[in-house]
Amino acid sequence: MLLLHISRINVLLAIASVVTGAPNPSSAPVPPSQDPWYSAPKEFPSASPGDVLRIRQAPGNLTTSFGNASAVYNILYRTTDARYRPSWAVTTVFVPKKSDGKALLSYQIPYNSVDVDASPSYDLNNPASATGLVLDDIQTALSLGWYVSVPDFEGPLASFVSGVGEGHATIDNVRAVLNHGFDLAEDAKYAMWGYSGGSLASEWAAELQVQYAPELDFAGAAMGGLPSNFTSIFSAIEGTMWAGLLPGGLLGITSQYPKARAYLLSELKTDGPYNRTGFLATEHMSILEAFAFYSNQTIFSYFKNGQAVLDSPLIQRALNEQSYMGYHGTPKMPMLIYKAVNDELTAIEDTDEVVDRYCGVGANIVYERNTIGGHLAEETNGDQRALEWLAQVLGGTYHHSGCTIKDVALNVTDAPL
Ligand SMILES: *[C@@H]1O[C@H](CO)[C@@H](O)[C@H](O)[C@H]1NC(C)=O
Ligand SMILES: *[C@@H]1O[C@H](CO)[C@@H](O)[C@H](O)[C@H]1NC(C)=O
Ligand SMILES: *[C@@H]1O[C@H](CO)[C@@H](O)[C@H](O)[C@H]1NC(C)=O
Ligand SMILES: *[C@@H]1O[C@H](CO)[C@@H](O)[C@H](O)[C@H]1NC(C)=O
Ligand SMILES: *[C@@H]1O[C@H](CO)[C@@H](O)[C@H](O)[C@H]1NC(C)=O
Ligand SMILES: *[C@@H]1O[C@H](CO)[C@@H](O)[C@H](O)[C@H]1NC(C)=O
Repeated sequence: MLLLHISRINVLLAIASVVTGAPNPSSAPVPPSQDPWYSAPKEFPSASPGDVLRIRQAPGNLTTSFGNASAVYNILYRTTDARYRPSWAVTTVFVPKKSDGKALLSYQIPYNSVDVDASPSYDLNNPASATGLVLDDIQTALSLGWYVSVPDFEGPLASFVSGVGEGHATIDNVRAVLNHGFDLAEDAKYAMWGYSGGSLASEWAAELQVQYAPELDFAGAAMGGLPSNFTSIFSAIEGTMWAGLLPGGLLGITSQYPKARAYLLSELKTDGPYNRTGFLATEHMSILEAFAFYSNQTIFSYFKNGQAVLDSPLIQRALNEQSYMGYHGTPKMPMLIYKAVNDELTAIEDTDEVVDRYCGVGANIVYERNTIGGHLAEETNGDQRALEWLAQVLGGTYHHSGCTIKDVALNVTDAPL
């Protein structure tokens, strides 16, 4: 035990000695695929999940664009991938200008891309990007005096739809921020928030935390538009404006299963209008670009045998292990789950089922089913409600136990769709 402990300290010292990159906030951001800072020191497997491996001031102008941040950092930290092997990820930490250091929000952005260059730590610099859509939430959280950490939860392989890996990376970003400390109080409270692809990472973090990080005590998790079941989602979005999620979803889920990936690629057509080249184009697209490129396409037309590609035991295994919520643990933190009853992308029935399962074994959930709007509208319609709920859990004024499931009718005038 002692030996282990000593060798761990040596490893950490070794790692600390290779922490490079003097703070240079004015430097232009470099895409992660080209920035050597995005690589772990080779000793990283010996570090513990959540250990800080590198830290730097975030390049670019984030401090200027986020008026209420006094400083913005990138942390590269040790985590565990979707197959339970040592890995690493990066988070972007916003320090609020005015704060009592009592609250940390882990905010998961739905970047939904298999291009590592769409990771928030880089993409936050581009206000026109997908991450640009949610910048207001970060501004608001900062103006409330909360520290905000925004993890690249898909990790170095941009493993979209890999629930286990996304959950681990989300949990470990919180550990990393707490380990570094910043000026957070000893008794600071921390919570998670995410919508859609961001709730994917948040929910998996909540269900994995009970075993993976039992020492953590999250004040809560607010999660909207939960993608609870990807078989169901893949069918729902085929041929619709959401089809652009499918190529990335299939590549993301196989990104850590080489045999499944090889099989997937072998099933792609090599000619005709729906061929391998068009399918793989998603590897260099942000989600907004993918939505535009694949809009209304029947994505299974890219495969020789259509949707039967999903029936392969190789693909089934990846799906079973990574893409159905509610099987890896029962979250013990209070949760706010909000969802449009008419969500056309992530069916309400699938989320009802997850909530029922958790409620059957004592979870603490407020589940609000909004009778107005669809998937996009709910992002706006649920925003204020989620912020108010987070303010209560982070402020220590939240008192709720058991499950409260109710239909609500929330309508925000400028909500899309
Ligand atoms: C930050 O930089 C980006 C491009 O690098 C630019 O579009 C944006 O306007 C800048 N924001 C501020 C507040 O300077
Ligand atoms: C910064 O916070 C103050 C309140 O502390 C708020 O009035 C202001 O709008 C915030 N600025 C931004 C850019 O969010
Ligand atoms: C996921 O959804 C599909 C299609 O609706 C359904 O057949 C399957 O049972 C669901 N899987 C889980 C694990 O809930
Ligand atoms: C593959 O699809 C692209 C469109 O994505 C098309 O331009 C190209 O001609 C196709 N290739 C073949 C060999 O049919
Ligand atoms: C996709 O289909 C919807 C509904 O039919 C339509 O409104 C939209 O314009 C289509 N988009 C494209 C890019 O064809
Ligand atoms: C939501 O609000 C908008 C704008 O006030 C209104 O046009 C729309 O009818 C409302 N929707 C419902 C279902 O009440």
